[in-house]
Amino acid sequence: LYLPKQNILFVIHFILNNEPIQTELSSGITLLDFIRYHQHLKGTKIGCREGDCGACTILVGTLGNNQMKYRSMTSCLMPLANANGKHIVTVEGINVQDLSPVQQAVVEEGGTQCGFCTVGFIVSLTGYCMDNQTANYPNAIKAIDGNICRCTGYKSLERACQHIVKDLQDKPEENHMDWLVKQGFLPTYFKNIPDQLESLHQNILFDVKPLKKQGSLPVGGGTDLYVQRPEEMIYFDTVNLFDNQEFKSIDLVDDFIYIGAEVTATDLAESDLLKTYLPNLENDMKWVSSTPIRNMGTLAGNLVNASPIGDLTIYFLALNADLILLENETERIIALNDFYLGYKQKDLKENEWVKGIRFQLPNEPMMFNFEKVCKREFLDIASVNTAISLVLENDQIKSAHVAAGGVNPIPCYLQKTSAFLIGKSLEKEVVIEAAKIMDSEIAPISDARGSEAYKRLLLRQLFYGHFLNLFPSIFSLKSLV
Ligand code: FES
Ligand code: FES
Repeated sequence: LYLPKQNILFVIHFILNNEPIQTELSSGITLLDFIRYHQHLKGTKIGCREGDCGACTILVGTLGNNQMKYRSMTSCLMPLANANGKHIVTVEGINVQDLSPVQQAVVEEGGTQCGFCTVGFIVSLTGYCMDNQTANYPNAIKAIDGNICRCTGYKSLERACQHIVKDLQDKPEENHMDWLVKQGFLPTYFKNIPDQLESLHQNILFDVKPLKKQGSLPVGGGTDLYVQRPEEMIYFDTVNLFDNQEFKSIDLVDDFIYIGAEVTATDLAESDLLKTYLPNLENDMKWVSSTPIRNMGTLAGNLVNASPIGDLTIYFLALNADLILLENETERIIALNDFYLGYKQKDLKENEWVKGIRFQLPNEPMMFNFEKVCKREFLDIASVNTAISLVLENDQIKSAHVAAGGVNPIPCYLQKTSAFLIGKSLEKEVVIEAAKIMDSEIAPISDARGSEAYKRLLLRQLFYGHFLNLFPSIFSLKSLV
């Protein structure tokens, strides 16, 4: 495979397994191609090159407060630029002398047949062992939600997860890296990585100066660009926006929540600040793609993709969010609802960037619900998705924002439905009438994700689902349908 060099000198430094890497290859090539065709590490497999199969899964370690945080990512969608300053781990980098407990569990439970997917599963599950989350079966299953196997039928892999969870029962909450090394989950060199990265960081360029140079292309997570334009991307000198802290924060200022453009779906799900106001956020985010893609895909990417069914777009439309755009040093703030002009058309000037979004917190408690139906449980585009936010005052709806995806050419804020709900009481007649208004506001088309009639029915049911979930003591399915 041809791996071009960069036009602009922007040397990339990182640690690949136990080896320091310094390269002047084009920062737009994928990490997958660098690993396989430049480093000749063939354990990482090429399946779909679209983030769907997980055969190319790697672990990406970042250093913060002298602690490493490892996340699984799909190397087929990751620009080489985004490896800068990190520890990249392939399956070769987790091999120990004997089989690790993860590898042993997969073998013992018959979790591998042709073996093509196996590397991805082993890497994802090793990442799970390294994570801080509680060692339990649901979390282990969640860690492999981005991995597909066409041979085993998954039962053996599910048993392997149970096996691994048992093996992790004594893992300490603190300093678990030492424990994982001692128990043979990881090779010893992992203990030296924080120090190695620390000294690497003192010598490398982390800023975005090349942004100003012609021919460079700033890239966030890459999960969309590398699906849409994979051949083109290898010739760009991509500049890593993904790690730019300026666009990474989630803050409360006055009564507005501000979220930076480069915040990922995982960052959203893990934000304690957001969870204060959106208690179901962590669960909602599970329906957004898969773990490795949530670890890479950014908020700005989801918004500017302008997909009529972008999950985060629908989420933030129902929060009545504003978009913060930046051109040089000048900010422009517009309602997210006004950003979408037509199918894939946006109110975005040539030199404008998405800086982030903001939404206002109401004085009273806000009720929020998100619903999505897709053909595959994880890592699938919705057939229809919808979200609602409501604020009540004296048993009446004081404010309402309803959004729906997959039912119009653009991600849709349901203006009439939202307006109708304001001032109404929580009664079944109100919900049924609102659903009728909603049906008049949408224009779904029949396509691979369902017929027009199915999508109309689906949205109505999901709309009812909002009220059933938010007010279970007031509404029952029987009363609404
Ligand atoms: Fe399939 Fe990367 S090759 S997810
Ligand atoms: Fe063959 Fe999983 S073992 S695809």
